[in-house]
Amino acid sequence: MKKPDNPFVLNTYHGKAYFCDREDDLIALQEHIKNGRNVVLYAWRRLGKSALVHRFFEELEGSGDYETLYVDFLGAISIEDAIKELSSAVFERFGKNKSGINATIQKLISSIGATISFDPISGTPTLNLGLSPSGNEEQSLHALGEFLDQRKKRVVVAIDEFQQVATYSETNAEAMFRTWVQKFPSIRFIFSGSHRGMMAEMFLEKNRPFYLSAQLLSLDPIPFEKYNPFIQAHFGAKRKVISEEIVKSILDWSRGQTYTIQLICNYLYAQCQEVKEVDVQRVKTDILAQQQAIFANFPKMLTKTQWKVFQAIAKEEPLRNPLSKEFISKYRLGAASTVSTAIKSLQKQELVIEDDGVFLVHEVLLARWMARL
Ligand SMILES: Nc1ncnc2c1ncn2[C@@H]1O[C@H](COP(=O)(O)OP(=O)(O)OP(=O)(O)O)[C@@H](O)[C@H]1O
Ligand SMILES: [Mg+2]
Repeated sequence: MKKPDNPFVLNTYHGKAYFCDREDDLIALQEHIKNGRNVVLYAWRRLGKSALVHRFFEELEGSGDYETLYVDFLGAISIEDAIKELSSAVFERFGKNKSGINATIQKLISSIGATISFDPISGTPTLNLGLSPSGNEEQSLHALGEFLDQRKKRVVVAIDEFQQVATYSETNAEAMFRTWVQKFPSIRFIFSGSHRGMMAEMFLEKNRPFYLSAQLLSLDPIPFEKYNPFIQAHFGAKRKVISEEIVKSILDWSRGQTYTIQLICNYLYAQCQEVKEVDVQRVKTDILAQQQAIFANFPKMLTKTQWKVFQAIAKEEPLRNPLSKEFISKYRLGAASTVSTAIKSLQKQELVIEDDGVFLVHEVLLARWMARL
């Protein structure tokens, strides 16, 4: 992997040197996988679920005992798309070697109704999907599972944004995946998703196919004791200076959200030799200004009451009792029942979350932007 230009990377995973802590989570993942347990990795947004999976997979691959497959369902809006994602991932990972395409992958390709074409100049093979008639999903899944099952090494599959499956119009999509997972007990699965509520429902509701079928691993913010030395070390390596107090204030303002911490540190590292409080203020303002165009859409997406309540929650953080008289009258929100309905709707969309008895605007930067309005 190329060395990043800035040690505070902003897109998933760039290798161990740019990845802070998560040692306990890695141990927990190891234990689960080594002992034949599938895992659900869940957390609030942008805390580092996907990056952790990549970090863990690097470790597994390095051990020489495992092969890993990472699949992202974010863009997969139907079961067909999901199977395409899986097939492409399998092909990318296992399909190409120096001697061309081996017989097993050839067999797999024809059984999922795909074809291969070769780049006329480089000779690189590409997988063409979308030829399989619908209704063949189970067969395709089976063929993919069989292929993975027959690898010499144990295979660990991570499906990111797995909550997408719950949104497919085919009502049996979840059950189909559940059956698939059960059919291949020697393949290990990690399910991860950015919609924590939906993931929890899929795995914790009694009438759902995946009910209690995997171990839940919840990610928390990286603690100051771990993040501070990491930040200090990267600044120090370039003889840059940042005080502990400033680091602490960044972690607080970011509410521990890894992405926001990384973003602020990325800017400060680029701009400063010795970070001062004014620099932090400037960077925060710049970051919020850049998001302005996106944030400005929120009032349009919500009803008037929802927007008022949403904004009040941002300003009041940390809010313990959204139905208290003080809160409602301070922000002139009207009847408690209206506020309650608005909050329920905001929670359903995960715009507002309840964490440890506190109501919060989920997206930290959005919360900070609204608080300034
Ligand atoms: N342990 C870490 N050390 C340093 N940076 C990290 C770490 N974990 C995540 N990051 C960075 O934080 C950001 C968010 O991480 P990531 O995309 O993995 O989060 P996520 O929980 O999968 O987010 P989403 O909810 O959007 O799926 C990325 O920019 C990533 O590079
Ligand atoms: Mg992610």
